Amino acid sequence: MSSQISGPAATARASLNASQIAFIEALPKAELHAHLNGSIPISELQKMAHELSDAETSDAVQAGIAKLKDGVVLDEISEFFNLFPAIYALTSNPARLRRATRAVLAQFLDGLRPQCDYLELRSTPRKTPEMGRMDYVRAVLDEVERYPKERAALIVSLDRRMTADVARECVEIARLLKEEGRRVVGIDLCGDPKAGDMGTFSEHFSVAKRAGLGITLHIAETSANSDEETLQLLSYAPDRLGHATFLNDEAKTAVRSAKTPIEICLSSNLLCKTVVQLDAHHLRYYLEHDHPIAICTDDTLPFRTSLQGEYALLMALPPLGLGLSEVEVRRLAEMGMAARFGA
Ligand code: IMP
Ligand code: ZN
Repeated sequence: MSSQISGPAATARASLNASQIAFIEALPKAELHAHLNGSIPISELQKMAHELSDAETSDAVQAGIAKLKDGVVLDEISEFFNLFPAIYALTSNPARLRRATRAVLAQFLDGLRPQCDYLELRSTPRKTPEMGRMDYVRAVLDEVERYPKERAALIVSLDRRMTADVARECVEIARLLKEEGRRVVGIDLCGDPKAGDMGTFSEHFSVAKRAGLGITLHIAETSANSDEETLQLLSYAPDRLGHATFLNDEAKTAVRSAKTPIEICLSSNLLCKTVVQLDAHHLRYYLEHDHPIAICTDDTLPFRTSLQGEYALLMALPPLGLGLSEVEVRRLAEMGMAARFGA
C-alpha cells in the first residue's frame, strides 16, 4: 500500500533521484516505534467516521478527523495529544479496533514495496464501555498474528498518566499473554511528556523484565523533562529509548556505555518542534559515536510520513535532509533490525 506523505519527508523524497528511491525501497528495514492509534491511514478513519450515524459520532469527532485530513500544524508538543480523542472515539470497540489495526499493518507491511520488513507496533490498552483492556490487547494481537513472527509483533504501551493500578494491570496482561504464547514482545512508556510521576512505574518495569519483555521508554522528549527524571528512567535499565532528545552529558555517557539503541523519529521531532532543524538533530551525535539507532515514524497519521519518507530525510542533501551516504543509511537500517525485541 503506498503512503501519501506530506511535509518535510515528502519534500526530502521529492529531491531524491530514482536510484536513491530504489535504494531506500530495497533496504531491509525495521519499524520499531509506531503508535497504533497514531498510524491509522486517514482514508480508513474517514470511512469509519462516515459509517457511523450522527447519533454515534459527535461534531467534535468529525472536526477532529477533518483536521487530521487537512494536516495539523503544532505550535508545541502538548497540542499533539489533543488529536487523539477523535481517533479514540472511532477505535472504541473490538471490531473497529481490529479494522484500524489491520489497516495500520497493511500500510507498513503489504504491497510490492512494503514500508518495512518488520514492524513492532505499540499500543496503550484502553478500557471503553465496549471492551476491557485484555479484550483490547487480544483484538490487536489477533491482527498482528495474521503475519509471521518475522514480520510483526506487539509492544504494550503504558501511558505516563496511568495510575499504578492500571499500569500493573497492563503489565499483567502483557505478561499473561506472552506466557500463553501470544506475540507480545515489550513494554513502552509513552504519553504527554510533561505528565505523570515516573516513580510510579519502577516495579512494573521490573515485573516486565522478569517476564522477558523488552523495555522501551520515551525519554527526555522535551526540554521540560528534568535531568532527574531522565536519570530515574535510565535507572530502570531500558533496552531501547524513544527520542532521547534532551540528554545531559551524564545521561549521554550512561546511554552510550550501555549501548542502548535510540529510536529516532525525524518528522515527529520537527513537527512537534522539539528539534528546530535537521542540522541540529541529535542523530548526528549518535552517528558520530557509532551508537545504535533505529529510524522510525512515531505517528504516520498526524505527521503524514512513512518509513521510506524518514529514510529520504536521511539521504536528501541539506537543508532538506541530512545528506548521509548510502553506506551510512544502510548501516542505520541494519542497526534498526538489530534492535528488534522480537524475531
Ligand atoms: P495508542 O497507544 O495506540 O493509543 O497510540 C496513541 C498514543 O500514543 C497517544 O495517545 C500517546 O499517548 C502516545 N504517543 C504517540 N506519539 C507519542 C509521542 O511522540 N510521545 C509520547 N507519546 C506518544
Ligand atoms: Zn512515540
